Amino acid sequence: MPRQIDFPADEIICHCSGTGRAYIRSLFKQGMDVAAISRWTGALSGCGGCEWDIADFLQDLARQENASRQTAPD
Ligand code: FES
Repeated sequence: MPRQIDFPADEIICHCSGTGRAYIRSLFKQGMDVAAISRWTGALSGCGGCEWDIADFLQDLARQENASRQTAPD
């Protein structure tokens, strides 16, 4: 599992793995889905308590991305 010590401090969304929202956002923008993010960070591989927070967060990111595509000029 990669260490995240180079990332700025931000809200931790998965306390088992110490994964923060900024890191998940970065991985999402690189094209990772929830399974890939889990494998890469270790999130969702402990107690599972972050499952819905991460799912909601990824849905929000996808919505934001779709909205920005629809408003971007061709
Ligand atoms: S808080 Fe994410 S697996 Fe436990």
